[in-house]
Order: sequence, then structure tokens, then C-alpha cells
Amino acid sequence: MTEYTLGKIPRLVAEHVDENRLWARVMEMSKYGAIPNDGVNRPALSQADIAARKTLISWARHRKFTIRQDEIGNLFIRRDGRHSNVVPVMTGSHMDSQPCGGRFDGIYGVLAGLEVLEALEDAKIETINPIDVVAWTNEEGSRFDPGGMGSMVFTGVAKVHDFAHIQDCDGKSFKHALEETLRATPADTERPSKHPVKAYIEAHIEQGPVLENSAKTIGAVTSIQGSRRFQVNISGESAHAGTTPLKLRRDALQAALRCLADLNTVMEDPDDILRYTVGKLIVSPNSPNAVPSRAEFSIDLRHPDEAILERLSGEISSVCAKVAPPCGVVVTQTFHKTPTSFAPEIVSSVEGSACALGLSAMLLPSGAFHDAGMMATHCPSGMIFIPCADGISHNEAEYASSADLAAGTKVLAACLTKLAAK
Ligand code: GLV
Ligand code: MN
Ligand code: MN
Repeated sequence: MTEYTLGKIPRLVAEHVDENRLWARVMEMSKYGAIPNDGVNRPALSQADIAARKTLISWARHRKFTIRQDEIGNLFIRRDGRHSNVVPVMTGSHMDSQPCGGRFDGIYGVLAGLEVLEALEDAKIETINPIDVVAWTNEEGSRFDPGGMGSMVFTGVAKVHDFAHIQDCDGKSFKHALEETLRATPADTERPSKHPVKAYIEAHIEQGPVLENSAKTIGAVTSIQGSRRFQVNISGESAHAGTTPLKLRRDALQAALRCLADLNTVMEDPDDILRYTVGKLIVSPNSPNAVPSRAEFSIDLRHPDEAILERLSGEISSVCAKVAPPCGVVVTQTFHKTPTSFAPEIVSSVEGSACALGLSAMLLPSGAFHDAGMMATHCPSGMIFIPCADGISHNEAEYASSADLAAGTKVLAACLTKLAAK
């Protein structure tokens, strides 16, 4: 890469990142929604999410940072800059987790952002632009499908009421859970969505094995592959398991299995670039001696090439319509994000800052979806990855070392300070 000059002040702020404070906070947050084997189950807008939000707010208030919240519950912690009327530089990630998630996915990026604000305070550095740390609402989409709701609303891709009716598996609506959360975590001021932002950088564990296998500490993320989600609803008819002949049945689960078998063939990719996942299957009435009347399954489809995603997405409905009868089938696309290319100047500032701080770095694409993908449609954006053990994520065993968490945060501190200081 070309020569990169970090400057004295960004370096000073990076030096004030406190590894112990950061680690202690990551561990403290992992208590909200803790499950066995060091895992975390913190669904969006759940009581555990509310408790984590309250703790984050209390840490921010301790430093007298301003708390704002927008209509979808995105939480913003602001450290003021010299001028209050200039656009903020932004960082952050999400606090919700997978049902059997780990201690680092998402929450690391929020706490790394807070640690940068703390380091700026400790180093007594005044920036020109304010710096905002955001905790996006419902990035995972495992309780309320789809994910990325907070950043979609912030960037104007969707409106809150588009999601109001969506229910979790207990029948509770997103609208209701959001109202409960907004009531429980009052902010200093409301913040309008679609607010201009100078630049956005998100720190995250890699969630794959590339950095670890390459013995690199920092990933400067160049892109995110495209992703789509679908919900497939099959309707049949419930009947007695002991008396109903097979040829008279409209068995929704058997229809789902026929759809899945044919979809497996369509989604075959000898190059192993396509990511096709059916992670959710719900059967009703879910009784051993009743023929299933309803089956619902999810499809998560990802590829770096939008044209391939478009073609394969188009095949889902026709494959299902062919084999589902005598059951009915409805396929609904619930999420669509085209591939993201991050801003070259942010990618090089991540790589350059890492090298200037003596950390090994490499460029790499992201297989996982992130709110940074939405933000890239709104302002120059990028991401900082750090290694996670054996590339394991969306799993209780997810692990990142304290030293790597701090290393990524130092790079974040250097990049944000440089962006906010000019
Ligand atoms: C987010 O965790 C994703 O699904 O990539
Ligand atoms: Mn994440
Ligand atoms: Mn995740």
C-alpha cells in the first residue's frame, strides 16, 4: 500500500485505549442473556437487550456523553466536537444476539466505540466533529425477521411502520416490543433518522477463519457479499395420523421436504461460493399424531455476485410451486441487500492505521451481513475485523482474545480521531 501518515494525535488516542476496561465491559455485557457454555441469547428488544441498553447508557452518562434515540430504538452516544453544528463521525454495531450466540458478535463494535470516546477523554483531545457511537436495533433478525432493521430505517431504506406487524415466535409484535424498549430507556433527545454522517466505521469479529489462518491481527474489510432472505409458507390440512390414507392427505411437512430436496439441487455450487441456508423450520400443529397443516421455512441466500443471487432467487418460487401441490405455497422475500463495496479511503485508513500502529493487517471481504453495509449507501463507510478463534461465530463457543479486541479498538481510535480532527 502507499505510505500512510497517522499523525501524533490519532496515535496518542490509540495509546489511551484501555484493554482491561474494554475486556471488563465485554464480560459485563455477556451477563445479559447469558446461557450455558459462555453463550449469549439476547434477542432484539427483549428484557436482556433492555438491561444491556440501560448499562450502556449508564456508562455513557458517567462521562456526560449525550444519549439520543430514534424512532426505531437506535441508540446514539455522542461525544461533542468543537462545533456542534457539523456532521458527526459515527461508529458502532449491534447489541442483539443469535439464540445460541457468543459474547462478541455485535457488542464488541459498540463497546469498542465507547472505548474510543473514553480514550479521547483520557487523552484530553478535542475533535472538530462530534463522534457518535450507535447501537443499532435488531441487526440479527432472529427474533424479528428481517435483520438490519435499525440501519435500514436510519438510512431511509425502510420505515418503522413497515416492520410494526412482524411477530416473534410467541406472537409478540415488533411494535409492542419497540414501545416497551423506548419506554424503558429514555434518552436525552430524540434523533431524526437519515441524519447526515461524515463517515462510518464498524469494528467486528471476523466470524470466519481467514485472519487467524493468515496470522494477521487486523482485517481492512473491502466489501460485503449480497444477501437475501425468504420465508416459504406451505399450507395443507391437518388430519388423523392413524386413519387418513396417504393419497388423501395434504401434508405440509412432506410438501416442505419436497421443496427442500429440489432447492438443494438448484443451489448446488461446485465452487462453494454460494451460501444457501435453511435455518428455521416451523411445523403446525407439531403433534406426533396429526398430519401437519402448516410448514414454514426460511431461506438465507448469499453471494458476491448480484446477478447470480437474482437468478437463484427467481427459481425459488417456481421450484416450490412445482412440487408443493396438493399443498399451497407462498414465497415472500423479506430481505434484500445488494453487495457492498466499502469506500477506498476508509479501507486504506484502516489498513494504514493498523500498519502505523505496528499491527499486521490484510484486506478481506465479509461473508456476514453488517449494518455497515446499509451505512455504505449513506456515507463513506468501512469495517475493521479482528480474528475469532477457529472462525467460530453464531455459536456459544465464539471467542476473541482481549489483546485482539484492544488492537481493533486502537485502529478504530486512530481512524475516527483522524476523521473527526479535520
Ligand atoms: C448477521 O449476523 C448475518 O446474518 O450475517
Ligand atoms: Mn454481528
Ligand atoms: Mn451475527
